[in-house]
Amino acid sequence: MRTLITTFASAALASCFVTAPVAAADTQQVFEFYCTQCHGPGGKGDGPNVTKDFPVSPRNFTNAEEMNKLSDADMKNVIMDGGPSASKSPMMPPWSKTLTEEQVDGLVKHLRVLCQCEGKQG
Ligand code: HEC
Repeated sequence: MRTLITTFASAALASCFVTAPVAAADTQQVFEFYCTQCHGPGGKGDGPNVTKDFPVSPRNFTNAEEMNKLSDADMKNVIMDGGPSASKSPMMPPWSKTLTEEQVDGLVKHLRVLCQCEGKQG
């Protein structure tokens, strides 16, 4: 019986580590799973889902000039509520029902790494 309890306890502990708070690695996974099919693995807007029928190209996240037009809050808003919330295309889906705020904050940071830009301040 004691072994059983110990086994359970260590299993619980182990799963604690697996579901540890959102880390950079998790952000990378979230990005790959939800964003790369359109925005591309390197964020260049060339994901496998994008065909010539796309009315607009997904933003190229490595384009610092374009990305600097957005503040972190603008990005968070468009990721949470989708393109139309920022008068952009509905081809950019809303993610607030899929992702947590923490995950979206992580994505915003990730996009800043990709563009190597600070973004619009304020
Ligand atoms: C179904 C394809 C698709 C998926 C999936 C997708 N996007 Fe987009 N995204 C777009 C398109 C298309 C645009 C451009 C909209 C426009 O310019 O009108 C866009 C625009 C954006 C913008 C705004 C750029 C700007 O100039 O305002 C951000 C930020 C963004 N996407 C982040 C993400 C993130 C983060 C994910 C993953 C959680 C994601 N997108 C998933 C298609 C997609």
